[in-house]
Amino acid sequence: MKKIVKKIVTAVAVALIPSWGGAAAIASVAPATIEARIDSLLSQMTLREKVGQLNQLNTADFDTLGTAVAQGRVGSIINEVNPEVVNALQRKAVEESRLGIPLVFARDVIHGFNTVFPIPLGQAATWNPSLVEEAARIAAVEASATGIRWTFSPMLDVSRDARWGRIAESAGEDPLLNERMGLAMIRGYQTDNLADPTAMAACAKHFAGYGYSEAGKDYNTTWLPLPLLEDVVLPPFEAAAKAGAATFMTSFNDINGVPSSGNKWLMRDVLRERWGFDGVLISDWNAITEMINHGVAADKKEATLLAAAAGVDIDMEGHSYPDVLEALVAEGRLDEAVIDGLVRNVLRLKFRLGLFENPYVDTSRPSPAFAPAHLAAATRAAEEGTVLLKNTGLLPFGKGVKKIAVVGPMADAPHDQCGTWAPDIRRERSVTPLAALRKLYGDRNVLYAPGLRYTRDRSCEGIAAAVKAAGDADAVLCFVGEEAVMSGEAHSMADLDLKGAQTELIEAVAATGKPVVLVVMAGRPLTIGRERDMADAVLYSFHGGTMAGEALARIISGKANPSGKLPVTMARMTGQYPMYYAHKNTGRPPEWTVELDSIPVEAPQTSTGCTSYYLDAGKEPLYPFGYGLSYTTFEISEPRLSASVMPMSGATFTVECTVTNTGKCAGAETVQFYVRDVVGSLARPVKELKDFAKVWLEPGESRVVSFTLAPSQLAFHGLDGKPVLEPGEFMVWTAGSSAEGTPVSFNLVENKLL
Ligand code: NOJ
Repeated sequence: MKKIVKKIVTAVAVALIPSWGGAAAIASVAPATIEARIDSLLSQMTLREKVGQLNQLNTADFDTLGTAVAQGRVGSIINEVNPEVVNALQRKAVEESRLGIPLVFARDVIHGFNTVFPIPLGQAATWNPSLVEEAARIAAVEASATGIRWTFSPMLDVSRDARWGRIAESAGEDPLLNERMGLAMIRGYQTDNLADPTAMAACAKHFAGYGYSEAGKDYNTTWLPLPLLEDVVLPPFEAAAKAGAATFMTSFNDINGVPSSGNKWLMRDVLRERWGFDGVLISDWNAITEMINHGVAADKKEATLLAAAAGVDIDMEGHSYPDVLEALVAEGRLDEAVIDGLVRNVLRLKFRLGLFENPYVDTSRPSPAFAPAHLAAATRAAEEGTVLLKNTGLLPFGKGVKKIAVVGPMADAPHDQCGTWAPDIRRERSVTPLAALRKLYGDRNVLYAPGLRYTRDRSCEGIAAAVKAAGDADAVLCFVGEEAVMSGEAHSMADLDLKGAQTELIEAVAATGKPVVLVVMAGRPLTIGRERDMADAVLYSFHGGTMAGEALARIISGKANPSGKLPVTMARMTGQYPMYYAHKNTGRPPEWTVELDSIPVEAPQTSTGCTSYYLDAGKEPLYPFGYGLSYTTFEISEPRLSASVMPMSGATFTVECTVTNTGKCAGAETVQFYVRDVVGSLARPVKELKDFAKVWLEPGESRVVSFTLAPSQLAFHGLDGKPVLEPGEFMVWTAGSSAEGTPVSFNLVENKLL
């Protein structure tokens, strides 16, 4: 095999961002001019008009909303997607309200607008920030065509518990992966000029700690010690603030007893002072008023005082600010200057979005919805986000597979394949696996028998037909998983096994002896160990969006080579969660485990080895973070370090490795760079991801992948929340997953000792 060796500085995926015709470029207004215009407006505004800017309402009947807008009592509107209505409401604001301050229209455009991309967890599985940026750009182009200029995305909540339904909306368990994906989305939504009519303001949410909801139950409380908060929870948010995310959203949860919407330390000291954020901070929906339920405020007035003191600029559909802010000023309990500060942030956003110059959506622009380039990008994203977990050689289908049995409730589920947060889909635009396979293999060669009508279906009546189809085919494709409604906000689960009679269906088709490919389409990692063992190959596709079926058919047929890697640890059993690769070693790390059934009756208490694992689930996950196979194979060399000693206040350090495609077809490998701080003043994680690079290689091709490491990347936070950098040994891995590779060590040394 011919060896091609290329040297590159850092391997990154470069995707072309299409250019969009039709939208006139608008120059952004200079910051000094913006502040002067805000001063002028503020000097003319009544208190009621100021409060109006802080009030975000859900769309409602036109007359009621239009009247409130014309009276200057509303500053922004969520969920209106009809461009005619958007313009009509905007006219009320611009032409009928006293000061003509435009509205801004907001929407949860989370993973696409009309063209639905994979859920954020699936986008993270691509490990390809350029592709994620392209997806966000397309979402912004489609959404802005209806007048939406503000999206409540990206969600940057590190999620280590798959019971939490909102894991679907995250980039998984790792802070760095969340940061990289979040920044890519922000770039895609905002571009470098928010005033461009196709740009949308991004919103970093949910600030903060929401992913740590106790027991994975949505909206639940969190307990977060400062080292965890500072090392894991906050870094993606800090990066977003520093990259210019235009807005932030408070989270529903309390942290250590303080609900975020009233957390002055987090919102003012950290976000505004430490990180220099000058954008808009919005509450989550009704979150200000919910501080009454939390039990930290007796009534709306107390809740409002807490939120205003914390610097929450906008009350999202909570009716606290509009109901009581004026009274609080009149009673002398709140200084109007505090309100001025909040209004200033809101007006700044509107200036930055160019809304004063260009308030209306251009309805004469041809609709960009479902443009061919958008569908092609959605196919690529779904392809690259699909993870091949197991393959005994059955995939891709070869010439021997002529007749295919297509079974399972997700094979033809146009709504459900789009996942959570897809309110603007048109289900008839979804390409399901069944449709794509029929097109590829011909109707006659695809024997379709779903077996179950939907994933929770317990009636087994259809299974006999699925078994018959399997018996008549050369191979079986079994599409299982979760309906869209089973993950996302307010959709937590206490048991992550496949629901309904899906396991029985897999068992029945596998019993025919025909080779089975299990394709899981879900909003989270499910516990599929038993089902995996019954299948010859397993593809995991986090709800893949409009083009999910096309992408899967291309992978199954070999037109595309899977390159997805898990952004989250897959547990064997639900009870293992929270489970994540960057755990602490503990004083009792398990080297060997004892299975429950092997323990003799009346065995002594210590017979299990007394280390940290579960008797009924062992110590390992089903699949580790970062794992994913390809139709080809790769070799990644041990890391090569530019020195074995790194000065603590020195320059960056280089870590290189060589990655080679050792198989027979072209493919992509994601090289992951992990570090372990061997001894610290606090126990440190067994590994932490510091960088990654996705590399496309022809068969036989090798590349040198190079990462840099600065001493600051080795710092962590102490119990007091202050950063510390400590000398000592560090281990370094370059590998294809968090569970592979051979480490090499270096020492971080105080400069005076060198
Ligand atoms: C509540 C959700 O928590 C948040 O993520 C979303 O943006 C708002 N509702 C608006 O729909």
